[in-house]
Amino acid sequence: MNRVLNTPHYDKLIVQEVAPRDGLQIEPTWVDTPDKIALINSLSTVGFTRIEAGSFVSPKAIPALRDGEAVFQQIERQPGVIYVALIPNLKGAERALASRADELNLVMSASQTHNRANMRMSCESSLVAFGDIVQHVKGSGVLLNASVATTFGCPFEGKIDEDRVISIVDTYREMGIEGITLADTTGMANPRQVTRLVTRVLERLPAAALTLHFHNTRGLGLANVLAAYEAGARRFDAALGGLGGCPFAPGASGNICTEDLVNMCDEMGIPTGIDLEKLIALSRGLPALLGHDVPGQLAKAGRNCDLHPVPEYVLQI
Ligand code: COA
Ligand code: ZN
Repeated sequence: MNRVLNTPHYDKLIVQEVAPRDGLQIEPTWVDTPDKIALINSLSTVGFTRIEAGSFVSPKAIPALRDGEAVFQQIERQPGVIYVALIPNLKGAERALASRADELNLVMSASQTHNRANMRMSCESSLVAFGDIVQHVKGSGVLLNASVATTFGCPFEGKIDEDRVISIVDTYREMGIEGITLADTTGMANPRQVTRLVTRVLERLPAAALTLHFHNTRGLGLANVLAAYEAGARRFDAALGGLGGCPFAPGASGNICTEDLVNMCDEMGIPTGIDLEKLIALSRGLPALLGHDVPGQLAKAGRNCDLHPVPEYVLQI
């Protein structure tokens, strides 16, 4: 408790902005490289310490992000911001290192079926590739994170055994991968499930090494954040405007929306270090960039403190 104000003191919630990767990977309209760079440069100045700026995957799989090299090489890097690249295999790691990514995010699904749909290989083959990547990256100073996609449910297989998720987390850590992300690829998680799994995972690794990646596909995104935070998680992925989705997961839709998340934190007194006003301004630029409305709600509604003028007829009463 803060003794002066007698209000609770909450730990910082760290937001990793993923719109340049998860957000843009599913957009049908090509976003020009300078526009991607401008978006990342703007995001770099609103208080994020981590931005997933792109991926180095097959350009046939994700054409929208085929300009990863140019993006990573030309962004204006801000001190204190870690620029992350998503990669599926050794070739991706080589490209990411050559483009000076600070951290690699390796992705495999808990579900064999989704891993085959997304990565075109079995989970076992993904793990072999991860072993090669760990060897390749060793000594370079580049950070490693690995994601367990479909942790909370798979659009093909349904429920995922929680013990399987735990054993994948253990395997990643035994391989020498420090950071772990539990990803809810198609928004199938619920708060009780999140509490259970986060509690189990935090018995094995510190909160600083765990990220939660929620999609808002079934409207439970922020409820899941709160459950995870209260179970001890402190790091969360979110996308500006609520963009995002995996093109190889049927029914996928946007990530939790960054400005909606930051607003919830601001209202609850949970510090994030992110400037909400600047974030809203950036989000309001997305429809012009992408040619369509975006799912986030705060940019439409405004903050609680953005009050409306009192109508004339009310003043007369
Ligand atoms: N970057 C660029 N090109 C790559 C690549 C990478 N990381 N990995 C493979 N390729 C190229 C190969 O060179 C080959 O090119 P060619 O056809 O010109 O010879 C082609 O892709 C096929 O290579 P192969 O190893 O047979 O891959 P695949 O077709 O079995 O696909 C993946 C495997 C992992 C490369 C592909 O499924 C992929 O990139 N998936 C990522 C999907 C994604 O990003 N999902 C959303 C995020 S979770
Ligand atoms: Zn995602």
